[in-house]
Parts: sequence; structure tokens; C-alpha cells
Amino acid sequence: MAATQLARHLGLDVYATASPGKWPVLRAHGFDDAHIASSRDLTFASAFPQVDLVLNALAREYVEASLGLLRAGGRFLEMGKTDIRDPQAVTAAFPGVGYQVYDLLDAGWDRVQSMLDELRDMFDAGILKPLPVTAWDVRRAAEAIRFLSQAAHIGKVVLTLPRPVDSDGTVLITGATGALGALTARHLVTAHGVRHLVLASRRGGEAPGAEELAAELTALGARVSMAACDTADRAALATLLAGIPLEHPLTAVVHTAGVLDDMTVDRLTPAALHAVLRPKVDAAWHLHDLTADADLAQFTLFSSAAGTFGNAGQANYAAANAFLDALAQARRRSGRPAVSLAWGLWKRGSAMTGHLDDAGRRRLARGGAAFSDEEGLRLYDTGVAAGEPVLVPVRLDPRQHTGADGVPPLLRGLVRAPRRRAGAAGDSGGPSFLDRLATMSAGEREEALLSLVRTHASVVLGHASADSVTGDRAFKDLGFDSLTAIELRNRLSTATGLRLPATLVFNHPTPLELAAFLRTELVPDEDPARVLADELDRLERMLSATEWTEQTRAALGPRLSALLWKWAGTDGATSAGPDLSEASDQELFAALDDELNLP
Ligand SMILES: NC(=O)c1ccc[n+]([C@@H]2O[C@H](COP(=O)([O-])OP(=O)(O)OC[C@H]3O[C@@H](n4cnc5c(N)ncnc54)[C@H](OP(=O)(O)O)[C@@H]3O)[C@@H](O)[C@H]2O)c1
Repeated sequence: MAATQLARHLGLDVYATASPGKWPVLRAHGFDDAHIASSRDLTFASAFPQVDLVLNALAREYVEASLGLLRAGGRFLEMGKTDIRDPQAVTAAFPGVGYQVYDLLDAGWDRVQSMLDELRDMFDAGILKPLPVTAWDVRRAAEAIRFLSQAAHIGKVVLTLPRPVDSDGTVLITGATGALGALTARHLVTAHGVRHLVLASRRGGEAPGAEELAAELTALGARVSMAACDTADRAALATLLAGIPLEHPLTAVVHTAGVLDDMTVDRLTPAALHAVLRPKVDAAWHLHDLTADADLAQFTLFSSAAGTFGNAGQANYAAANAFLDALAQARRRSGRPAVSLAWGLWKRGSAMTGHLDDAGRRRLARGGAAFSDEEGLRLYDTGVAAGEPVLVPVRLDPRQHTGADGVPPLLRGLVRAPRRRAGAAGDSGGPSFLDRLATMSAGEREEALLSLVRTHASVVLGHASADSVTGDRAFKDLGFDSLTAIELRNRLSTATGLRLPATLVFNHPTPLELAAFLRTELVPDEDPARVLADELDRLERMLSATEWTEQTRAALGPRLSALLWKWAGTDGATSAGPDLSEASDQELFAALDDELNLP
């Protein structure tokens, strides 16, 4: 791309080969189709006219094809040097053509210096434009070189070096009077020797705890400026940045500002979307854009695992954080520092998480227990030093992710799927839950559906096992609210394939009732007589499968007799069975044995 710019500046007619995937770039640089051909086949040899100069980076038969394009007196400059030829052999095969392997330093240091001077002037004059850059942290150099060797790049592949925050520079923390912002400010001063801080939030020094924080940091030796600044307001942020003293230039940004406005997606309003996007999307973009000329060592974004995994009632928040993650990726690709830390829950209550009750905290912490301050700050250090653009610091509890519908796709590389148990509800792979349901007796079906409901309900509530969700306890008493109710609905919809209403757990307020409802939806035209016959078959199999002790017979026999009585009572007139109303226990057992063909 550099040679193309120079050649065109010199007024040359340039023909270019590139893989077809890169043609749009050539077209955007003004090449028409007659001047473009593929670098992945030899058609260019017949598509292009004779030329005076070839700059070559290809190998094998592509070299002959390019040499064949040169008219007499033409020159072939070998730049790629993966397939170097003998110049005499080339001239013998292509008379009148000059072949030269090209090496920048052959020109000598003085000439290189004058070339650099010329280039600088041409950049200054706007004749040359910097090439697009794809950057890798130097610790991922192997990846960068693989990318280069596959010729997948456009422009330059660049390695960047991480560097520490300049202790003479200023660190800007947004949301610094919030729970995690204040913690990070303190940590940067005590553990990283930061001496100049600008702490921004909308309320600034008026925020609760702001004065104490400033006093504490000052006592620790830092110079602190508390700023009341809405960082989503570009002009306000620009003014704030312009006020940073030249002798302590901005060296790092830590963007922790954020707000929540949770609601289910169907009730999400433009206002609630905008309010949550503002401090994340607008503010992060302005920070990115307005610090473009600052020589930053770090640009750290506080994001949330909700952006990676999604979370009931947090569509707006998830979108806002996903933007932060993408911004960090884009910055890193262009060679600028950035890391987005998509946090799981911290233990420390904050304005954003303070409203959560125990059930809500358990639900949010489902990925694992919440972080103490020490754990979180340790992860902050690890994350900032790791060299990755996006990290998801969560403590994952694999048991919470091996529910009835299998391991979620996002976690499959981390969580080993449980070995499939025969009859387990909804394991991934093998017959589907619905297929297995179809082969079950009515009783087994009821049990499987109840177990499905209890398992999902316990996962949604953040419990370790389904035992804590009893079948006859109301969902409300178990701790369900509107968000968790929707999440349970979603999980059951996925597991059963049914379109279930948002009001599901309100219409069917206990696990037992909900399981019964699912059964009627999944097996709508079940004949009750068949169900009963199925169950009797099962009972019969059970009764004859075991040698029952006299004790068990004595204990359970009366229940069986009572059932029979009840049954006879419902259809006394037509019952063909014996009249057991006056029978003794012994006579009842005998009659039952007879009926059930027991010895
Ligand atoms: N705490 C957690 O468990 C947790 C988990 C995952 C992710 N996170 C992320 O970590 C960050 C900090 O969370 P936190 O729990 O510390 O929240 P927090 O205590 O509520 O703090 C948020 C801060 O952001 C400020 N803020 C909000 N909008 C702003 C704006 N437009 N301009 C400037 N400042 C603004 C608030 O101050 P004003 O109201 O005065 O502006 C407040 O100081 C958030 O981005 C959050 O998404 C936290």
C-alpha cells in the first residue's frame, strides 16, 4: 500500500493483485476493475498489459507470470524474498529484463535518512497517508506473525508494548465516588503509586463520601481533583480533560461510571434504554475520541458479565456493556491501550447493586460467589496486566451451569458436561426431553416434569440443588419476583419447546401446578382411562417384582384396599368386584392378591 501511494504520486499507472476479499480496499483507493486482478491465480498474466516495473511479493509460478508481463528494459524488484532467483538465469529466460532482490538497507544509512526526511515532508504535505494498522500486544506476537504469514492483513501489522502508568501523569477515574470507583482510586494510590487523580462523577464533591475519599487520598500523598462532570456530555468532558495540567498529562483512564434501570425487555422504554446507555456508550466513546492525542498507558473500562451472558431484566445494561467490550477490542486492534473487565458481582453493596435482596444477589452471583474487595482488586491488577482486550472476571461455579438443559454454549469450553443419566430431563445430545417424555408412563412423566420445574427454579434462584424447591410451595414464597419468573419461563420454554406466557408462574403458582400445566400442554389429548391403565400396569409390575414382607403388606395393604373401596364407591352400581364393605383385613388382602394374581 505504501508503494502504491508513492507510485501514484509519481504519476505511474498502477496495476494491483490482491486476494478478492481485499478488492473493496483497492476500489476504495480508486482502482477500477481493469487495474485489479487476483493474487490467488494466474489470470493477471493475461488480464494486465505489458508493464515496466514489477514489485513482487509472490513465489513459484507467480514469479514467471510476472516476469512475463515485463516489456524489454523492464525491471523486476523482488521484495517478498520467499523465492529468490538467480539474476543471470532470469535474464537468460527473459532477455532484456533486470532482476533485483530489494533490501531497504542496501541504500546505506545516509540515503535511508534522506528518504525518511522526504517521506516526512510528504506526510506533512498530505501526499502520503499512514497505512491502516492491525496491532497485537507483543505477548501475542506469535498470533500476529501467523496472521502476517497468511497474508490476512491489510496495511501494517504492529506489535505494541505494554507500559506502566506514569506516576507523574494524571489518572482520570469516572464514577469515582461510586463503590468500585473509590476502591480503585485508593488502590491506584496505595499499590501503584499514582499521585495525580481526577475523580469525576455527576455529583462530584457533593456525592456521599466524596469529601472523605479526597481527604484520605490526599493524606496518602496524592493530589486529588473532585470534578462534577457528566461524562456522557461531550462538551463537559472536553472541558474537564482540557483542565488537566500539562506538567502532569493524562496517563490512564479508568471508566467505572454506570447506572441501572432494570425491566423486562417487553417493558423497556426508549428513556430507560438511553439512561443506561449514556454513561457507558456515550461516555466511553467521548473518552476514547477526546483522548485520541493523549499518550495513554491504560484505558480501562468497567463492564459487566451481563454483556457476555445476558441477564433477566438487563437488556439495556447488557447492550451498554457489550459496547464497552467491543470498544476495547477496536482500540486494541488499532494499537491503542484498552481492557474491558466484564465483572461478575462484587460483595460490596453499591448504588447499582444495593437494591438487590438476597434472592437477587444469589441470582446475579449464579456464576459463582461475589468478590471481596481484595479478590476484586487482585483481579483488576491481573486483568490490566494480562494483555487481553476483554476479560470476564467471574468466579464460575460449574455446578450451576449443568442444569437440565445442559451446559450453555458459551461455557462449553470451560464446564464439562455431566455424564448423561438415563431419563434425565433435557440432556444435550441423544433423544430430546420431549422424545423421552413420549416413552414414559403418565406417572413417570409427571415426575420428570416436576423435576424439570424444580431444577430450573433452583438454578434461577441460585440454589445449589433442587431439594430446596418443594413441589407444593408457592413460587412467591420461594423468592420469585417478576424478573426471576421471566427467567424461569424462558428456561422452561427452551426445555419444552412450548411458547409459554410471561404470567406462567403467576397462573400456576406452585411447582406441582406448573408441572401439571406443562403436562396438559405437552400431552393435550391424553386419555385418562389410558393414563390409569398405564399406572395400574406399573403398580402391578412393582407389586410382583419384589417379595414383600408381611410388615410391608400390613402397612400398605389397607391403603390399597381403601383405594379399591373408593373406586368401587365411584362406580358401585356397575362394579363387578366382590362386596368388600364387610370384609376383614385378611379377606381384603386375599381379594387383592386374587385380583392382582399374586401368590
Ligand atoms: N458492583 C458490582 O458488583 C459490579 C458488577 C459488575 C459490573 N460493575 C460495573 O462497575 C462499575 C461501577 O459499579 P458500582 O457498583 O461501583 O456502581 P456505583 O456505586 O453505583 O457507582 C457508579 C458511579 O457512576 C457515577 N455515574 C453515573 N452516571 C454518570 C455519568 N453520566 N457521568 C459521570 N459519572 C456517572 C455515579 O455517580 P453520580 O451519580 O454522582 O454521577 C457513581 O459514582 C459500573 O460500570 C458497573 O456496571 C459493577
